[in-house]
Amino acid sequence: MNIGKVISTQDSPSPSFFAFAIARGGKVHKDQFVQVKTEEGTLFALVDNIIKTNRYYARPETVVDAENLEGLFPVAEWEFLVGNATPLGVMKEGLTRRPTLPPSPGAVVEKIDSAALGKFLGFRQRGGINLGEIVHHNLPVNLSLTKMFQKHVAILAMSGAGKSYLTSVLLEELLSRKKEQGRVASVIFDVHGEYVSFAEKCPTPHEDFSDRAIAIKKITIPAFSMSAREIAMFSPMSTVQMVELEELIKEFKGTRYNFKELAEYVKLSKMKHQTKGALSRWLMSLHFTGLFGNEEKLVAKLDGEKDREYKLRDLLTPGKVVIFDLSSHIASRSKQIIALWAAKAIFNMRRRELIPPVVMFVEEAHNFIPEGVSKEIAPAKGVFQTIAREGRKFLCALVIISQRPIRLDTTILSQCNTHIIMRITNPYDKDHIGRSSEGINTRTLNSLTNLQVGEALITGEVVRTPIFMKVRERKSWEKKSTDMELDAIAFETNMKKESERIDEIGDAFL
Ligand SMILES: Nc1ncnc2c1ncn2[C@@H]1O[C@H](COP(=O)(O)OP(=O)(O)OP(=O)(O)O)[C@@H](O)[C@H]1O
Ligand SMILES: [Mg+2]
Repeated sequence: MNIGKVISTQDSPSPSFFAFAIARGGKVHKDQFVQVKTEEGTLFALVDNIIKTNRYYARPETVVDAENLEGLFPVAEWEFLVGNATPLGVMKEGLTRRPTLPPSPGAVVEKIDSAALGKFLGFRQRGGINLGEIVHHNLPVNLSLTKMFQKHVAILAMSGAGKSYLTSVLLEELLSRKKEQGRVASVIFDVHGEYVSFAEKCPTPHEDFSDRAIAIKKITIPAFSMSAREIAMFSPMSTVQMVELEELIKEFKGTRYNFKELAEYVKLSKMKHQTKGALSRWLMSLHFTGLFGNEEKLVAKLDGEKDREYKLRDLLTPGKVVIFDLSSHIASRSKQIIALWAAKAIFNMRRRELIPPVVMFVEEAHNFIPEGVSKEIAPAKGVFQTIAREGRKFLCALVIISQRPIRLDTTILSQCNTHIIMRITNPYDKDHIGRSSEGINTRTLNSLTNLQVGEALITGEVVRTPIFMKVRERKSWEKKSTDMELDAIAFETNMKKESERIDEIGDAFL
């Protein structure tokens, strides 16, 4: 369908820019894709701006002095829309290349064929991960599982922009894949307990994922699986003390001790009196977190049934998700300990191919992988750094989700090949994203401020060019803690108080 014609300006059309006059009544939007035939093939371009012109209003003296002349001229007919477009690639016989020739002035600009656009962007026709659709094209965003998770993904946006909603949609897609489409095991570090509803029977009309999701309510980490170096991350131990502990741990290799027992061994050892006191105190403090024991035990919440115990390895199966519900752990240290142990155990099992390929979601990632913070404050950071660096070789992908991109470790962020960015207004965070996401120009970056809840920009290896999309409706049950606005809650509370007071007066009267 003809939507306009390429116009000739002083420095366009060129292989990197062209402007086109939009046909009368034609509907073209910013961020829409269009196509033009050139001698190289079909050129795909993105409309990155639309300008309305009217030569009647181009000169201030006409506008100010000749106001009454408006009725004498067909002013409305002099209004034109001009689209500015950036060529993205030329497609010929199914192959895409970089455009090296401009379209001709006068060339017809056409509405893009959705199927061709999907092919051009690298979407899958079948078996893709459907996150939603491209704004203005009704084209489902079907991303390739391989391209997305052969490296890592970052989901970044300000609070309330829809990161967790999108993560749930992504999770639904991973849990809904058929065996022949290739399935991965998923793990999520759920800081606020937002994903636990996946593991619960849900009310209709939502889709029930409880047969594919398990929420871990309580965890016992085998104390003997922690190295002296890791123990040192949770206590102000000197290097000498750490080495002494390391030696002692070597002596007890193969013993399934807990930290209380290890503290006893320390007391009986030949260490200096002072070292013995300090080490056993720190070990006891870890013991009292209640997170460590003699053997691994993961207790799951099961709807309507008695709690059951599992081993992590048995839970990591294709097409299923293990949700570490960290919401009941108030102390940051406990969350860090669980993330450190689980991420390390999963990565080691993946290295030895004991479990299927894994996608690991890290919510509130700035707490686990902050930039420029010591190991004592973020002990789990080291293991996530290792996964970011080496995960690709072992098919262990990270999805880091954060509302504070600027506080994220830049090395890990740079290992994320796919960035999904939603509304963001903080200028520092925006700058940081501009520097760490490839292919984003200033105009695209500025658009992030205007995104609505549920709209996202995807950039990176998974798409040929950055795309704006609308996240699809989720199928799973979003168990909101409250749907009420603050003023409504405040009103209800006041009403309750009022009715209690009336009851009291009534009681007193009777
Ligand atoms: N695509 C969407 N369609 C409909 N509603 C949405 C969509 N995305 C988000 N919402 C709604 O917006 C609200 C905030 O979304 P969400 O909890 O995902 O934000 P967030 O970015 O994770 O925020 P935070 O950083 O505070 O965790 C929720 O009530 C959610 O239901
Ligand atoms: Mg969230």
